[in-house]
Amino acid sequence: MSVKRFNLAMPRHIAIIMDGNGRWAQQRLLPRAVGHHAGVKAVRKIVEYCAADSTCEVLSLFAFSSENWRRPKAEVTLLMSLFLTTLQDEIDKLHKNNIRLRFIGDRTAFDLALQQKMSEGEQKTKNNKALTLVIAANYGGRWDMTQACKIISQRVASGELSPCSINESIINEHLCLADLPEPDLFIRTGGEQRVSNFMLWQLAYTELYFTPILWPDFNEAALQEAITSFQSRQRRFGHTGDQIAALATTT
Ligand code: IPE
Ligand code: IPE
Ligand code: MG
Repeated sequence: MSVKRFNLAMPRHIAIIMDGNGRWAQQRLLPRAVGHHAGVKAVRKIVEYCAADSTCEVLSLFAFSSENWRRPKAEVTLLMSLFLTTLQDEIDKLHKNNIRLRFIGDRTAFDLALQQKMSEGEQKTKNNKALTLVIAANYGGRWDMTQACKIISQRVASGELSPCSINESIINEHLCLADLPEPDLFIRTGGEQRVSNFMLWQLAYTELYFTPILWPDFNEAALQEAITSFQSRQRRFGHTGDQIAALATTT
């Protein structure tokens, strides 16, 4: 069992929008499906790298957004079946590598077989410690906040919670990632510079990194480059730079 070391200069939680599969395939005059298959290979590399890194505790990957249902039906079907076969192939390997699997998003929209595989993967790996791998599937930051609002209002309606006691930590407690550290480093591949409804609440103080590399080409060296960029930044959380520098010398 590996125990993660806490080091301020290293991201504890890396969150990635894996974008560019379709364009990677189109550049090769191949169907978009080929790009999605190549994307799964890149996922394997990055998961292994983060699991081996002694400081990375959480890796979150955006696999399918709540808006991706708008894609052509054939592409959605392909993505769903790739999701299921990948889980079938990978759950045992993840478990052997001491990786805990976790899904965020509204899974009720998925086929029963897929929902069962997702629960099986979570159950089997729930005590693993090398890395928590969060897969965002049918996920949207707005959906997450909406479902939190629903639960909080039920608690208010039942008299269990008073409206004036609602604060940021109560809201946070009802969000999907309540028990995990917020992302330190956000990476989006594929060249677009937007967050596309990913972790809207949790990204408040995350360092953002955008790269033109298309997801299937993203590898260990590219991830290391993103981490190096993260390490060159001063995170101020509202303080002045001098305050942060003074804190660094006293801790
Ligand atoms: C990301 O790649 C994968 C998913 C959204 C499922 P895209 O499929 O968005 O690739 P591009 O952006 O069209 O190149
Ligand atoms: C974001 O990528 C979602 C995933 C990577 C799963 P998109 O390709 O769907 O984002 P937009 O539509 O370009 O904003
Ligand atoms: Mg895209």
